Amino acid sequence: MKYFIGNWKMFGVPKSINILKKINYFIKNDDNKKKYLAVIAPPATLIQTFSKIFTKKYISISAQNCYHKDLFSSNTAALSPYMLKQVGASYVIVGHSDNRAEGETYDIIKEKIKYALKNKLKVIFCIGENKNEKKKKLTKTILKKQLQKSLSAHFKSNTIIVAYEPIWSIGTGMIPTNEELIDTIKFIKKTLKNIFKNKSIRVLYGGSVDEENVKNLKSIREIDGFLIGGASKSSKKFIDIIKNYYR
Ligand code: PGA
Repeated sequence: MKYFIGNWKMFGVPKSINILKKINYFIKNDDNKKKYLAVIAPPATLIQTFSKIFTKKYISISAQNCYHKDLFSSNTAALSPYMLKQVGASYVIVGHSDNRAEGETYDIIKEKIKYALKNKLKVIFCIGENKNEKKKKLTKTILKKQLQKSLSAHFKSNTIIVAYEPIWSIGTGMIPTNEELIDTIKFIKKTLKNIFKNKSIRVLYGGSVDEENVKNLKSIREIDGFLIGGASKSSKKFIDIIKNYYR
């Protein structure tokens, strides 16, 4: 099963539901629909409306983040995994570099994953090195640290998906070479197997994925799907990514 996950970031108002309707219509009529899952992460303001309409349809709804506490708390503006689950989210993105840059630590991410899983949200766990780390050839060291410090062998691994998103490739149009991706994703899968005692976990690629470069990315067997930012805000681009992947 492949994943096409759209991360809308700070984008979208109620009428943006039209984007999902077009994507849903495409999937409904797509001969390949059994081969993949489509997930859209709108801003939290839209989770309830979107999930009400798309539950039992072809798109699952994800939250873009959650707070690292379980139920209710006195933290202003915080949204717990429980609250997000109650309004219909079935996935949550955790550890996105945007949030890490704002001070999210390994421990906070670990708590987020723990409580998200407890509330039966599937976790899209983002990892990735920055430009400087890549230049210093620290990519694997960084990724290993991100995985080991925020995952626990006790987590239910079959509801965790890892998204490898090199920070230097997010929104820049630059993506790693095929050789780099194969090598890195194999490394991530191996590290995950060590943590989770040989259970295999899906690993997605994210960072400037679009309807053009997917024609090349699809040749990399190790990639189990994509986390798509900018291009997921357009129904046409998102649909073309799926179309070109199976062409
Ligand atoms: P991008 O974003 O596709 O716009 O590079 C990916 C992400 O940040 O998840």
